[in-house]
Amino acid sequence: MIKAVLYDAKEYDMPSFEHYGKMHDVQFRFLETKLNEDTVDLAKGYDAVCVFVNDTVNAAVIEKLYEYGVRLIALRCAGYNNVDVQTAFGKVHVVHVPAYSPYAVAEHAIALLLASVRRIHKAYNRTRDFNFSLSGLTGFDFHGKTVGVIGTGKIGRIFIDICRGFGMKVIAYDRFPAKDSGIDYVSLDELFERSDIISLHCPLTDETRHMIGSEAIGQMKKGVVIVNTSRGGLVDAEALLEGIKMRKIGAACLDVYEEEADIFFEDRSGHILNDELLARLISMPNVIVTSHQAFLTEEALNNIAETTVNNILSCFENDGICDNELCYRCGNIERCKKERKEKCF
Ligand code: NAI
Repeated sequence: MIKAVLYDAKEYDMPSFEHYGKMHDVQFRFLETKLNEDTVDLAKGYDAVCVFVNDTVNAAVIEKLYEYGVRLIALRCAGYNNVDVQTAFGKVHVVHVPAYSPYAVAEHAIALLLASVRRIHKAYNRTRDFNFSLSGLTGFDFHGKTVGVIGTGKIGRIFIDICRGFGMKVIAYDRFPAKDSGIDYVSLDELFERSDIISLHCPLTDETRHMIGSEAIGQMKKGVVIVNTSRGGLVDAEALLEGIKMRKIGAACLDVYEEEADIFFEDRSGHILNDELLARLISMPNVIVTSHQAFLTEEALNNIAETTVNNILSCFENDGICDNELCYRCGNIERCKKERKEKCF
């Protein structure tokens, strides 16, 4: 029996983890609290910790986990920007779920985009109030518009396919362009200058942090629509708000927010929101915010639990590889992931 403690547990992810855990002799303890320096002690006596996007897995937390004999950090998400993988190297293995439903995220990006451009969120509220006026609800056709996609991995490519179905012209930027993909790659500057809509699908790294800042926004077309379903840190939220106030940005669709960690996933209704920037963004008529729900489909939840349990099992087998390990051996996780055929250490 492998014992794992699952931090930041939510009612929607517990049933699938319980189901797949029982099937494979992995016992989960569910904790509502997030993992951080104050809560790491709760991992004492467990073989693995299972964490999500807003858990803090920094060097101090990793050192404690190592001291407590925890041998695995199992991320139940794709992004791993909240884990200090370099510190974990040689101490605690780190695995993630590279893909659980890229369709879920790409489709949510489109849902946000359609709702925003066609003012569905406004119309919904109006008609519930028997207000059938069309004033202020004018949108624009997707057909013929240019969409700039940043990051053409699993999610970005599905997003591109859907956009093509609408008859949009797709241009893209990726640090590592996919060969023979038929994607029209351009420089980041050109993408900013030409796009009517910009959608972010790249990871958050030191290089990509605030890639949408005041300089980038300055290069964009007036009325550009920005969609971020990737990671909040890709967008400088203050610069975004400024761009909206200056009428440069036509609309923003945000499923992620840089300072979301203590806000998103929780019911804060009835409380005063301490984050004035987020409150201001939400108050804008042309901003739609969802709270990191792009992944939230039944298919994705099952895939997340099944893959995480398989990852855990593979890491506690003595031989072979740790499935989906984020290996830091050569300092290049993406390359290591593709090339290594054994455990990271
Ligand atoms: P992926 O790894 O398949 O694709 C990422 C792409 O970004 C790759 O093509 C890579 O070459 C490219 N890239 C890397 N560095 C770049 C840079 N500096 N500039 C431009 N492109 C760069 O990842 P996938 O599955 O498509 O996920 C994309 C992102 O979506 C994840 O990193 C994660 O942050 C986010 N995500 C959000 C979810 C949500 O619920 N909102 C759920 C799942 C993922």
